[in-house]
Amino acid sequence: MSDADIRVVEDPAAEVATLLEEAAAGGGHVVLTGGSSPRRAYELAAERNADWSSATAWFSDERCVPPGHPDSNVGMAQVALLARLSKPPRVNRMQGELDPDAAAGAYEAEVREALGGDPRWDLMLLGVGPDGHTASLFPGKPEVEEAARLVVGVPLAGMEPQVPRVSLTLPALNAARAVVFLVTGSGKADIVPRVFGTSPDRSLPSARVRPRFGSLTVILDEAAAAKL
Ligand code: 6PG
Repeated sequence: MSDADIRVVEDPAAEVATLLEEAAAGGGHVVLTGGSSPRRAYELAAERNADWSSATAWFSDERCVPPGHPDSNVGMAQVALLARLSKPPRVNRMQGELDPDAAAGAYEAEVREALGGDPRWDLMLLGVGPDGHTASLFPGKPEVEEAARLVVGVPLAGMEPQVPRVSLTLPALNAARAVVFLVTGSGKADIVPRVFGTSPDRSLPSARVRPRFGSLTVILDEAAAAKL
C-alpha cells in the first residue's frame, strides 16, 4: 500500500511511547489497545510521566473479564501506564464485567456523547494478531461487517483468551485522525505483508483499517517486517 507510513525501527515501543506522550500532552483522545506488544510502550510512556491530565484515554477493545483480571486490557494499561502517571487522563474504559452487548451499548453511548457519531480520535493505537485480527474484530466474524454501530459485542473470540469481547468497529477505527499499528516479533512476519503489503488481503480486518480522513502509521521491528 502506498499511503501508509511504514517504519521499521530498532525500538518500536520507544517510538510509540513518544507518539502517546505527544497526543496526551496535546489533550488528545487517545485510544489504547490490548495484547502484549503495547505493554512496553505503556511502561516507557509512564516513565516519561508527561502531563496527561487534559487527555482522555479510550480503549479499542476489551475482554469480558473484570478490570482486575489478568486478561483485562484496561487492567494491563492501568498497571503499565495509567496508575503510574502523576497527572493521569480521564479514563473511559469498556466494562468487561458486563455481558458483551450491554458493555458495547454503554460504551457506544459514551463515545457518542463525547465525540459524536464520527469520533475523530486523535491517536488510535492498534495491534495485529497472527490471524490478521485487530482490536477484537476477527476474520470471518459478523462484527467485521458492522457499518452503523461504533461498538459491538463479540460473543465468540477468534483467539485466546477465548472469552467474549467488546470492540470498536471498523467505522469507529477508521474515523481516527491518526491510526498507529504496533507490530513486533517474528510471529507476525507472515501476516504483515498480507495487511500492509502492496495488495492487502481484504478478508483480514486489520487490512480494512484505512482511516477515512487520517494518517496510517505502521511501526514494526525487523522481525515483524522480515517478509514485507
Ligand atoms: C486484544 C487486542 C488485540 C491485539 C492483537 C495483537 O485485546 O487482544 O486488542 O487486538 O492488539 O492481538 O496483540 P499483540 O501485539 O500482543 O500480539
